[in-house]
Amino acid sequence: MPILAIDQGTTSSRAILFDADLKVLATAQQEFPQHFPSSGWVEHDAGDLWQTTLATCREVLEQGSAEAIGITNQRETLVIWDRETGEPIHRAIVWQDRRTADLCEDLRAGGHEAEVTERTGLLLDPYFSATKAKWLLDRVPGARDKAEAGKLALGTVDCFLIWRLTEGRVHATDATNAARTMLYNIGTGAWDEELCRLFEVPMALLPEVRDCNAEFGETRLFGAPIPILGVAGDQQAATIGQACFRPGMMKSTYGTGCFALMNTGETRVASENRLLTTIAYRLDGQVTYALEGSIFIAGAVVQWLRDGLGIIERADQTQALAEKADPEQRVIIVPAFTGLGAPYWRPEARGAVFGLTRNSGPAEFARAALESVAFQTRDLAEAMRGDWAASGVEAEVGVLRVDGGMSASDYTMQALADILGAPVDRPPVLETTALGAAWLAGHKAGLLPGVEGFAARWALERRFEPEMNNAAREARYDAWRRAVAAAIAAG
Ligand code: G3P
Repeated sequence: MPILAIDQGTTSSRAILFDADLKVLATAQQEFPQHFPSSGWVEHDAGDLWQTTLATCREVLEQGSAEAIGITNQRETLVIWDRETGEPIHRAIVWQDRRTADLCEDLRAGGHEAEVTERTGLLLDPYFSATKAKWLLDRVPGARDKAEAGKLALGTVDCFLIWRLTEGRVHATDATNAARTMLYNIGTGAWDEELCRLFEVPMALLPEVRDCNAEFGETRLFGAPIPILGVAGDQQAATIGQACFRPGMMKSTYGTGCFALMNTGETRVASENRLLTTIAYRLDGQVTYALEGSIFIAGAVVQWLRDGLGIIERADQTQALAEKADPEQRVIIVPAFTGLGAPYWRPEARGAVFGLTRNSGPAEFARAALESVAFQTRDLAEAMRGDWAASGVEAEVGVLRVDGGMSASDYTMQALADILGAPVDRPPVLETTALGAAWLAGHKAGLLPGVEGFAARWALERRFEPEMNNAAREARYDAWRRAVAAAIAAG
């Protein structure tokens, strides 16, 4: 019997029906509007997230019924809703939203960052949900009173979808999504009273936290009841879908941004290089940790070539254009359009272009855009290797496994292997996020094998080996580091 995976992302909602061999039977996708009410603010109408999820599920379920549902989702994005009516009190504040930058700065100035990091593995940045919750409770009229009276519920997108799918019967989330709120203690595995006090979020708002493979109620909205048996944030679901189950294994997903996660097993590695420590997954009560590097602009740099510069009409033209670039030129783009994420964490930085000559044109811009993704991944890989070496855990760092839309570009993946100086492995199925969610639910339903069996079916489509010589690679990477430093200084 098929398994339905819901993948509620930042720009679209998708439903994918997998058969019991994890082959894709049907997919449906719907985009929804993005709202930018002010500079640096990003909101989603939670009703749109729900309606597009419902519509795409209905569409694929026309191809067959499902035995279990797995949910994966954009992380950190926060919804607060009324427990009685189920209606959100405001639009969802999206992970990209920077409106609470000042609040984060104040808390940092107040000396709170070390304590927050110790408890959550995160850094004081507007990216995470806690300051978004405080903003909503402070700014939406009447919200704080209602919250204190227990009349409101809070949740990341998975949690809101579970509430809607179960028609208000279940208010729960999983450990990976909880770990991104900055209210959850990843050491004790519980909501943290101190942090709730610090961010002024009443605990009455919070959902119950369950394993990634757990019972999250059942939905009766598609005919016969279907149980929800798997939940994980999208980057964690991709880590599972890539079968990165052993310490040292690493994946990188190239969507709008790029998120690299390295499995660190039972060891909670504290980063000395400004990476995040997070929960990779929690299966049957057992927590596996990860180091994460988050880059905000990856595929979005190609959108900029198309929509900002107008030098391509379609994203898939970028590679052909980049291949025409003059090999003698060294144009570098630092795509800090919305500041820089890991390992720099400079929200105020802005993009910059270096190395222009009179011969620089669209081809050199296209190449520099694609290479910026490779350079940023190397930044993360360097930081991860440093943290990993310092952790003392005895396991080798594995080959980087890639997925997401941009990983389909051979040119970009070759550039990545060249700049990393290490092989890059690409599986045949790039739908690894949905695959991870489907496996969680299918395994819990007893339809799919466990960790070992699932890992054994991971297949390689192509390995990209580094072709650039060491001296050239290091010279190029040095130039990138200088460009980033200059972009930060100019920002
Ligand atoms: O942390 C944000 C991340 O989960 C968003 O992923 O794929 O929706 O851009 P995506």
